Amino acid sequence: MVKHRSRPGWTDVEEYLSATLVQGGPGMEAVLASIGAAGMPRIEVAPTAGKLLMLLVRIQGARRVLEIGTLAGFSTIWLARGLPDDGHITTCEYLPEHAAVAAKNIAAAGFADMVNIRVGPALDTLPTLLAGDPYDFVFIDADKANNVAYLQWALKLTRSGSVIVMDNVIWEGTILHPEHDPDAAAIRAALDFMGSNPALDATAIQTAGSKGWDGFAIAVVQ
Ligand code: SAH
Ligand code: DHB
Ligand code: MG
Repeated sequence: MVKHRSRPGWTDVEEYLSATLVQGGPGMEAVLASIGAAGMPRIEVAPTAGKLLMLLVRIQGARRVLEIGTLAGFSTIWLARGLPDDGHITTCEYLPEHAAVAAKNIAAAGFADMVNIRVGPALDTLPTLLAGDPYDFVFIDADKANNVAYLQWALKLTRSGSVIVMDNVIWEGTILHPEHDPDAAAIRAALDFMGSNPALDATAIQTAGSKGWDGFAIAVVQ
């Protein structure tokens, strides 16, 4: 008799990849648990994607990172893990409740001195960052409606050679029919901006797994 097994799915493969390659450690499990415990939405990046952020930061040799959309600090901690000891992250979070959970998680992970959480609408915070040095790496992962505005701010706050990563650029494929979903339309506008702006050289990768069908765009500032 042939032994029948159920066909592996995207999430099974992601679990295997996480267990084999990511090994976030007990601290990262606690961060994930804190999201559910605080009643926050489970919209953090997958562990495999978090580690991708860490590796991209390392590969680029970034020292200064800007994040838009903190939630509980899961992606923030992955970004911080890719930085040298004198690295810095500014992360923008609209909701004080989310920022409070993130601050606790970031401190527990040992990155309190490296991370500055700026509470409030990111579009209020971003202009205040013009006074500082340019950022080497930007991760955009907040309200999708403002994605084009975030890209425009990212261009003002970076230098030639900086990297911009944007989460959720596939949105279950709805970017091809954005008529009924304002978020899908805004994501598509951001992709169109990346593809047509000579200041950016970009691509996007689709992902499938625990976060459904989605993906990242990655761009280098020219
Ligand atoms: N990057 C996080 C997930 C972020 S979820 C991770 O992967 O772990 C999106 C976050 O953006 C939420 O916490 C939400 O409160 C925040 N947000 C929504 N609108 C915002 C705005 N206008 N300015 C700053 N943050 C915003
Ligand atoms: C949502 C937001 C995200 O940043 C994400 O990665 C997944 C879902 C959301 O708002 O539904
Ligand atoms: Mg996201």
